[in-house]
Amino acid sequence: LTDTYALNNGTKIPVVGFGTWQTPDGQVAYDSVLAALKAGYRHIDTAAAYGNEDSVGKAIADSGVDRKDLFVTTKLWNADHGYEAAKQALATSLDKLGLDYVDLYLIHWPNPAAMRDNWQQLNADTWRAMEEAYADRKARAIGVSNFRPKHLDTLLETAKVVPAVNQIFLNPSDMEPEVVAYNEAHGILSEAYSPLGTGKIFGITELQTMAEKYDKSVAQVVLRWSLQHGFLPLPKSVHADRIQQNTEIFDFELSEDDMATIDGLRGVAGLANDPDTVNF
Ligand code: A2P
Repeated sequence: LTDTYALNNGTKIPVVGFGTWQTPDGQVAYDSVLAALKAGYRHIDTAAAYGNEDSVGKAIADSGVDRKDLFVTTKLWNADHGYEAAKQALATSLDKLGLDYVDLYLIHWPNPAAMRDNWQQLNADTWRAMEEAYADRKARAIGVSNFRPKHLDTLLETAKVVPAVNQIFLNPSDMEPEVVAYNEAHGILSEAYSPLGTGKIFGITELQTMAEKYDKSVAQVVLRWSLQHGFLPLPKSVHADRIQQNTEIFDFELSEDDMATIDGLRGVAGLANDPDTVNF
């Protein structure tokens, strides 16, 4: 859990992060983040839209873990696009988290419905504010989430800083090969949210067979697959035993054949696979 990838600006990022999407605010978020920090996670992923930054921040403060040993990500919500709004949004998130800086600040979505007519300009303006936050060290790295190649192409026309990360829905059933290839070609790390397909991949027979073979759980096999692809998985759980289990993925290696078998599962869980319906 202390293994790191280097982002394109040299910042080190722990290779597994603790996901908090769909974790209710209050005691549940507080307890699960505290459990994650106790289990050894040093990378916590939240977002303004998850509504749990307060509790996440409180757990971080109470954990006793040194700030410099932690990697904290949050995200700018859809209502906060634009230069001034983006600056304010980061200030609000920092305040809720009780932090002076985040390690990574992401644009959550490239083109929410309300900005579909002018997403290009709004993303450019938002990015300018994020570049300033980066220069001021309020965000140690900046990036995007749910961006498809055309959104990145457009952003890169005006960006001075290349996004360090593109966080996408990425699991054996939904591999988004075009986005992953684009990220790789541009030195952008692919982070995987819902690396367990929001829990929908557990019933897949091939994964169950493989889990038995490696004497691991399906979750561990799938997280290992994510790591071996060079992705950064962000598993979410609110159960201490699962939170712990999801860290035990460094003591085995999937064979090339088994990696290929999992790659072949694309679409099998019936999750979103059509780029035009995932995001446009
Ligand atoms: P819970 O939070 O109740 O533990 P994803 O990270 O893809 O969004 O998936 C999260 C889902 O998978 C949640 O429903 C979570 O449930 C469940 N989950 C997380 N880790 C495990 C695990 N090791 N075994 C079984 N279910 C898990």
